[in-house]
Amino acid sequence: MILGLETSCDETAAALVTDDGRILANVVSSQAELHARFGGVVPEIASRHHLELLLPVLREALDEAEASLDDVETIGVTVGPGLIGALLVGTAAAKALAWARRLPLVPVDHLHGHVASLYLQPDPLAPPFLCLLASGGHTMLLDVRDEGGYTVIGTTLDDAAGEAFDKGARLLGLGYPGGAEIDRLSAEGDPDAFSFPVARVAGHDFSFSGLKTALLYTVRDLAPEELERRRADLAASYQRAIVRALVERTLEAAGSLGAERVAVVGGVAANSELRASLPDAVAAPLALCTDNAAMIASAARYAEAIPYPDYLALDAYAST
Ligand code: KG4
Ligand code: ZN
Repeated sequence: MILGLETSCDETAAALVTDDGRILANVVSSQAELHARFGGVVPEIASRHHLELLLPVLREALDEAEASLDDVETIGVTVGPGLIGALLVGTAAAKALAWARRLPLVPVDHLHGHVASLYLQPDPLAPPFLCLLASGGHTMLLDVRDEGGYTVIGTTLDDAAGEAFDKGARLLGLGYPGGAEIDRLSAEGDPDAFSFPVARVAGHDFSFSGLKTALLYTVRDLAPEELERRRADLAASYQRAIVRALVERTLEAAGSLGAERVAVVGGVAANSELRASLPDAVAAPLALCTDNAAMIASAARYAEAIPYPDYLALDAYAST
């Protein structure tokens, strides 16, 4: 049994997964509400809450799996990229647990974790495939040839897709995190009401900062009551632009790589329009799109374990 721990941003998560990818427990405690009044994640607050939440979340995961720490054979923990203070809480906890029980420790890359959300039961996906990873921190196209890793073939030059959703939601006066809010509101709006352009950059890269500025100008030019009345149309049109950019770039890359299969992972993969716009793609299960520890335990199965006690000097990293 593998224990996965994830604390890279504002989700404190613990999961228990078997060697063959069955999820025995997957507990996520989101701090989103705590950060909402600041309009985004406050790193110092996130670190402090990870510290408070980690052990209760771990206990809940063990209860859910009807297991004890004695059943854990390996510990996998996110070591980066993410908020450094937040990551350090998870890595310190993982080291302490592993050291006390003389277990091996597997340092897991958060992005590898998102991809590994596809390798879990009941429908594990086998490489090769082209993977769109769209989250709050990253937007990448990955060439995945085996479960152990990936090659980055495209990335965002500025904002991540999830960041574009969150910043757009803020401009529209919606809550944080904004992706799910825009997704919900878009269902009531007309996606063709406003025309928001998406930058076309060279290669397989993405760019979303211009789109955010376009929304800013559009919102600024509307009278408050007009903004109120057209909020759903704005959300739907804005979402359409983001989704279009993601879908177009992904299909282009699939064509040029000759990829037979396309997969979508990360928080933005929960978006209903994106899922509907890539009907032939394999989308990560909804519960595994946003940050969780089951995906980290899953990735730990394919990453190199550090034997006891060599991991005590292991460091976290904020960016790749
Ligand atoms: O993967 P994730 O939980 O954290 C990172 O690794 O960044 O992704 C969080 C991002 C946020 O920006 C959030 O707004 C976005 O995923 N998100 C969505 C939806 N649900 C979450 N974006 C669009 N539509 C959704 N339904
Ligand atoms: Zn993530």
